[in-house]
Amino acid sequence: MARYTEEQIEQVRSANDIVDVIGASVRLKRSGSGYVGLCPFHNEKTPSFSVNPARQMYKCFGCGVGGNVLTFVMEYENYTFPEAMEYLADRVGIALPKKEFSAKQREEENLRLTLLEINAKAAKYYYAKLKSPQGKLGYEYLQERGLSDETMRRFGLGYAGQSSGELYRYLQHEGYDDRTLQETGLFKMDERGVYDKFWNRVMFPIMDANNRVIGFGGRVMGDAKPKYLNSPETKVFDKSRNLFGLNYAKQGKRKKLILCEGYMDVIAMHQAGFTGAIASLGTAFTEQQANLLKRYTDEVLITYDSDSAGVKAALRAIPILRRAGLTGKIVHMEPYKDPDEFIKGLGAEAFEERLEKAENSFFFEIDVLQQEHKADDPEERTKFIHEMARKLLVFEDKVQRDSYLEALAAKYTVPKEDLKKLVIRYSSMEPEGYREVMEERRQNSRRQSENSEPDGIQYTYQLFLSWLVEKPEMYTQVKDIIKTEDYLEEPYRQAADLLYGQLENGQCEPAKILNCFEDVEQQRTVSKMFQTGFDATMDRREKEKAINELLFRIKERSIEHKMKNLTDIAQLQELMAEKKALQTHEKLHISLKDG
Ligand code: GTP
Ligand code: MN
Repeated sequence: MARYTEEQIEQVRSANDIVDVIGASVRLKRSGSGYVGLCPFHNEKTPSFSVNPARQMYKCFGCGVGGNVLTFVMEYENYTFPEAMEYLADRVGIALPKKEFSAKQREEENLRLTLLEINAKAAKYYYAKLKSPQGKLGYEYLQERGLSDETMRRFGLGYAGQSSGELYRYLQHEGYDDRTLQETGLFKMDERGVYDKFWNRVMFPIMDANNRVIGFGGRVMGDAKPKYLNSPETKVFDKSRNLFGLNYAKQGKRKKLILCEGYMDVIAMHQAGFTGAIASLGTAFTEQQANLLKRYTDEVLITYDSDSAGVKAALRAIPILRRAGLTGKIVHMEPYKDPDEFIKGLGAEAFEERLEKAENSFFFEIDVLQQEHKADDPEERTKFIHEMARKLLVFEDKVQRDSYLEALAAKYTVPKEDLKKLVIRYSSMEPEGYREVMEERRQNSRRQSENSEPDGIQYTYQLFLSWLVEKPEMYTQVKDIIKTEDYLEEPYRQAADLLYGQLENGQCEPAKILNCFEDVEQQRTVSKMFQTGFDATMDRREKEKAINELLFRIKERSIEHKMKNLTDIAQLQELMAEKKALQTHEKLHISLKDG
């Protein structure tokens, strides 16, 4: 990944006016010196999302997101920092330096770009065909399946004509040689000639998360076999690392994503307003896909087909999701086969209800387990209960395990104590053959400890720095009391350091400070640091009191920290004196002017 210099980042940031960039995706209304609109990151009816053109920052008072123009693009498009840089540089025509490539790497990169270019041309070609008289069959087929013109356009659906070789001739005419065309996977070549892989099919372009066409799926318009034909993997098409529909599903609000089996399901769902729908590409759901999803959500609803193949696929997907740290839930589609048919049959509202009733994936797994054992056979029932007990070992957290245990005991009328004894028995055994369970446990407990950090002092830093930005004139008093080393945690210390540097020179540009943080989580934290303003109802004295309380807390924490790590007795005395001064408010006090 390219690394950018501070100047480059600042150049890109300042060349992209935040109101223009956000205004392209959010309807903004003028309000006072800024703009407001409906927040694209959470559901709301009245606008609490505001953009400040002077500061070049945005903030939502509803859900707390905020940042500069780079943060916005990262959050809205779910781009990484370098992706956001490229996007914004592109937008204003700034050329960013490319990484140094070796000749071979450059050649490969050029081939990749050419393949993407050909795919885009092929998609346009298929789309134009669909809309032409020769595409009538395909167009009517898609209409019959309930798709609107707008949906066909949005997903770039197309039609591959009746005679094989059309696309080949077109691309040849465009100047591509056979060797390159062979790499696209769109053609079959043998000694007798070149054929289009797809003909007389409706075409589904497969796009990556950045809207680039990387492959195609094609469906016959009747019952012929194979029903779907997919592009083979190519230099730009990795089936295990992409998901159909993700380019749209990732946009805007952080939402539950809905994993389904087919392209048609995804498209029907998006059309019905369920824009979190995605599907794997004709192959089983993979680890890499789960990790990709983790960038955009914490919860995945699984809407696989209601047949036995669908159940099997769901059972395979659940542990994969769990291992990636995602909560999986199962959506039941009965009496319909898949979401497409369900929505056609019962409508979007009924589907929404099903989504809300999605089943905890652990219960689903146990349910399936039960169905595998005949209920009226005592032997089978015993086996089932043992299996259930072993499965409970997935939960390492005792409270969590116990609550699942209780729920299962009630649901399957097993005496709670019996089930508990079994669990204890299995948990004391070596996990021979239960490596997967143990692995999951390890990962679960790691995640929990990551989430349980105390955040008290962090909030203090956040408020204090926010207020400092709001009242930069405090700086002359602050700088003698709270030094940057008094901020004990990152990214607060670094942010404070940068802000102090600006204030020292009589500037205050928090949007610029954000440039130094590339990770979206850090950007979120830092932008909060600069936008948790004073409560509007506070008067001068209240503000002063609040500021001094924060100041006290920061200083106290810092002194305590130093004392803990102390080796020198003279220093200790110094710190004790400092602490005493702190408690008696001697000299450590900030006073505000009116206003
Ligand atoms: P429709 O009949 O068009 O509604 O399809 P569906 O979405 O209900 O498809 P189905 O559940 O049959 O298949 C789900 C997914 O599996 C499809 O989107 C394809 O990606 C893939 N698939 C289905 N049939 C075939 C096939 O014959 N060959 C290959 N390679 N993939 C297939
Ligand atoms: Mn279907």
